[in-house]
Amino acid sequence: MDAEENLKSRKFTSKKFGKNFTWGVSVAAYQIEGAHDLHDKKPSIWDTFTSKKGVIHQDHHAKKSCDFYHNYEEDILLLKKMNIPNFRFSLSWSRILPDGIGQISESGIAYYNRIIDFCLKNEITPWVTLYHWDLPQALEDKGGWTNRAIVSWFEYYTTVCAEHFGDRVKNWMILNEPMVFTGAGYFLGVHAPGKKGLSNFLPAVHHATLCQALGGRIIRKLVTNAFIGTTFSCSYITPINKKYKNVQAAKRVDAMLNRLFIEPSLGMDYPYKTVPILKKIQKYMLPSDVENMIFDFDFIGIQNYTREVVKHSYFVPYLGVKIVEAPKRNVDTTLMNWEVYPKSIYKMIKKFNAYEGVNKIFITENGAAFKDAVIDGKVNDVERRNFFINYLQQVYKAKKKGLKIDGYFVWTLMDNFEWAEGYHPRFGLIHVDFKTQKRTVKESGKWFSKFLKPD
Ligand code: NOJ
Repeated sequence: MDAEENLKSRKFTSKKFGKNFTWGVSVAAYQIEGAHDLHDKKPSIWDTFTSKKGVIHQDHHAKKSCDFYHNYEEDILLLKKMNIPNFRFSLSWSRILPDGIGQISESGIAYYNRIIDFCLKNEITPWVTLYHWDLPQALEDKGGWTNRAIVSWFEYYTTVCAEHFGDRVKNWMILNEPMVFTGAGYFLGVHAPGKKGLSNFLPAVHHATLCQALGGRIIRKLVTNAFIGTTFSCSYITPINKKYKNVQAAKRVDAMLNRLFIEPSLGMDYPYKTVPILKKIQKYMLPSDVENMIFDFDFIGIQNYTREVVKHSYFVPYLGVKIVEAPKRNVDTTLMNWEVYPKSIYKMIKKFNAYEGVNKIFITENGAAFKDAVIDGKVNDVERRNFFINYLQQVYKAKKKGLKIDGYFVWTLMDNFEWAEGYHPRFGLIHVDFKTQKRTVKESGKWFSKFLKPD
């Protein structure tokens, strides 16, 4: 590992990426806010899902989490102190519209106004994600993402957000990782709302694709000088060996995990040729949909953590592919059991560069969970710091080669609720003691501050 050497020489700093490169951190409402039922807020699907027994690691929930709702000033000031100029956060739909549609919550709007204004006052640029997985439960009760009416619910929600925050927020992302919230939430049932099977997954995918484009159109119409993107999870997919059937299997996984949501937005429709089962999605499509799925995003946010190694399997329905888990491959892993594979981020930047019609590319998430401990007031998370150095070197390689790459956001500012894994994996640059709410900047956080402002 040459991370240590780099660190010593201190030559590898943000300066190498040029003045116009955007640096930031990302968070999401449900993972940090807490205040789950304060004022008008009603439950989201994650409030409901986490109240069930046995679905989340040790039955954790995010009723309080980091209590960012009350601690936002302290946290944003920390961000400033750490030299981080851009803050990506999401809006909680059910805080703004407790029933998903209809009545607007004044207290919900006021809360986000406070956050936006406090960021701006401290010269931190807000980057807002409209939807980071916390659908109002009231809408799930009507079918959630499987109901085509979500297109008009989302239209209303986006309009309300644009009208209330668009005067000050210019950077918008429509959806966060649609493949994850449809795949884990509507196919595997391991995320909220816990639905399973193709008959839930396919309509959810299609309606999310429509909302992705429609959201973009609304923001473009209502927000002057908006800079509009959406975000995709992506992993470099490698076949276990060069056998034809494994190579084909890798192509199918790549189509599902990396191509499914971007291609329709570029006018290429869904990748039916590679994954024929996707033709079943046409049952949910109207003739005008292919056109309506298109939007000319100003930027694409890519979120990369690892790669996947796959092999053909007759026994797995639909895709016929098995993922060879990292712990079985004797490689370095994070606490999520994800392989540490820095090249993956370079491969993904390259892959998204290859699409005609992709204008700008930002890494809107990258990070790692490791076992952290506070010892004598310090979290000496060398592994995380090395993770960042090694991944960032790959981002730099892409930039040097002339690929489009315009910014990088760390996942995440502080330890928080990691969905089905609860509070077990800690991803933050800042350690959070969930009992006392004490924040401790980890060594990786200190390193990142220096990387951003070396002098
Ligand atoms: C993707 C998601 O957007 C975020 O919510 C999650 O915590 C991180 N990746 C880490 O799994």
